[in-house]
Amino acid sequence: MKNQSIGIFDSGYGGLTVFKSISEKLPDYNYIYMGDNARSPYGDHSFETVYEYTLECVEWLFSQGCPLVILACNTASAKALRSIQQKVLPVKFPENRVLGVIRPTAEVIGDYSATKVIGVMGTRGTVNSSSYLMEISKFFPNVVVHQQSCPMWVPLVENNEHLNSGADYFIEKYIASLLSKNKMIDTILLACTHYPLLAPKIELVLPPNVKLVGQGDIVASSLAHYLENHPEMKQKLGIDGKRSFFTTGESEIFNEHASLFFHAVVKSEHVDL
Ligand code: DGL
Repeated sequence: MKNQSIGIFDSGYGGLTVFKSISEKLPDYNYIYMGDNARSPYGDHSFETVYEYTLECVEWLFSQGCPLVILACNTASAKALRSIQQKVLPVKFPENRVLGVIRPTAEVIGDYSATKVIGVMGTRGTVNSSSYLMEISKFFPNVVVHQQSCPMWVPLVENNEHLNSGADYFIEKYIASLLSKNKMIDTILLACTHYPLLAPKIELVLPPNVKLVGQGDIVASSLAHYLENHPEMKQKLGIDGKRSFFTTGESEIFNEHASLFFHAVVKSEHVDL
């Protein structure tokens, strides 16, 4: 089948920060975004639950004509991607592909650091999975990685409280905790797709020698590279520049909030899974 779309999935709004970069880098493709807002945040859910929810959304995106789905969510990439790739796709959807955000980030993050000491900030689920420790060590065995879970950050963003003064306490708390682990940290990876919305406030408390890295552009470049190397996938994709948005939550709330992440008008439809 031709004229199919690229599916972009996140537990809620965070994946829109990645979608924004993808849609700027690769504007011609057709995209379907799916946010599982009714069940987010995923950060504290078990492996089984994140797997079950993610698979349900991925299968829905497949059913909408997306042969390629990007898990624009670190928690889902850490807890569900491998099982979907190894157990589900070969048996049920051998022609389809699901890609995550952890590996493309791990492939390049070591190059951002001069001291080769990096901080990774993510949800409890991402941090406890140790996925970044394992993946970064494959590509940069000499890079030292310190992790910090930030369980309050996603709720702040999902509730649109991230730029209010109440957010300051939790921003300072997690940044101070991470930086206290090693004075040599010169690069902080925002390993959760919600966190770029907190970046303006995070920058205010960072020492000048520490740089903040988000994943949007990294994932967009990696997808461009993937499509160049996979003509069999590329030829299935439509290039009418269409964007559709779906949420398991309330579509009106999603539209209002999503435009903050996507920097454009968003019109979504509610979907029951
Ligand atoms: N954007 C998701 C991530 O990158 C948020 C996780 C959540 O729902 O807790 O990890």
